Amino acid sequence: MRKGAVQNENSQYKIIAVDDDPGVIDTLSVFLRRSGYNLTGLTNPVEAVERIKSEHFDLLILDFIMTPVHGDAVVEEVRKFNKDLYILLLTGHKDLAPPLETIRRLDIQGYCEKSDKQDQLLLLIESGIKSIEQMNTIKRINEELSDTYEKLEKAYMESIETLRQTVEAKDVYTRGHSDRVSAFSVLIGEKLGLSEEDLRILRIGGLFHDIGKIGVPDSILLKDSKLSDDEYSQIKNHPSIGAHILSNATIFADIIPIVKHHHEKYDGTGYPSKLKGEEIPFLARIAAVADTFDAMTSVRPYRTALPMDVVKSEFQRCAGTQFDPQIAKVFLDILENEFDKIKEIQEKYSA
Ligand SMILES: [Fe+2]
Ligand SMILES: [Fe+2]
Repeated sequence: MRKGAVQNENSQYKIIAVDDDPGVIDTLSVFLRRSGYNLTGLTNPVEAVERIKSEHFDLLILDFIMTPVHGDAVVEEVRKFNKDLYILLLTGHKDLAPPLETIRRLDIQGYCEKSDKQDQLLLLIESGIKSIEQMNTIKRINEELSDTYEKLEKAYMESIETLRQTVEAKDVYTRGHSDRVSAFSVLIGEKLGLSEEDLRILRIGGLFHDIGKIGVPDSILLKDSKLSDDEYSQIKNHPSIGAHILSNATIFADIIPIVKHHHEKYDGTGYPSKLKGEEIPFLARIAAVADTFDAMTSVRPYRTALPMDVVKSEFQRCAGTQFDPQIAKVFLDILENEFDKIKEIQEKYSA
């Protein structure tokens, strides 16, 4: 697309930036307006909260350490009346960054350190805009849903298809991954004797478990060298971003626990919420097994698939630490006795 066209598209999104240092606002204004964004810059955080109350904005960029109130307090206030706003936090020196827990609790979608180079911030804004587009699409679909069952069913299937295509377009290396995670999850669910309704949630939840990767810059997602801690923590935001994107549609409410918690570990060392044991939603524990199995057994540009005996011993070793022991046991049983079903899924949805 031509540069002018991109700028035109960017101008439909309203960004509000808040920093008590007018110099930062000036710099942001120059470079964001150059990229075509529609920016409102404010130096007073209290005034900013009032503006957000009375005016629509898509994205908020705000400084963490400010007077008279810090950025996290501003977000706390804003979240009381606005859950949709996409929020990026700017931090000064690394040590001054708020703890990750705070970032997740307040539903902040990303943060980056202030620097003279604005590239990282620009990438985060671009990813943010993509997430906002998704959120708007979902919102529109949700609003358009008529109350007749037939139309609802049709819109539901269409929205699933639209979203699926976006997820797959994002990362060619994981094409097929979502389908396989979905099918493996259903297989485990059937083995556990779950209801039709739970199987449906597992199927759709598996398809969308990684939708939040839309909000992670490609430069990080597709990097084939080692990730820095900062980059890794941005990847770790994908479950929360996914849950945020889907939170606008009531029809997706029941799959959000899977999207949000598929990287939790049974011993409480996972993310984003460090949930432990049965605190982790049951269906998310199933999806976690399916997701890890697929990650171990699919070929990526930077590594080959693990041999099946290694995979099995990993599931044995990690039952009770990474995985729910009961689910790991059922899955090992499938690997041992019904491997043809696994093979069938792998062949059907090969990348
Ligand atoms: Fe994931
Ligand atoms: Fe995944």
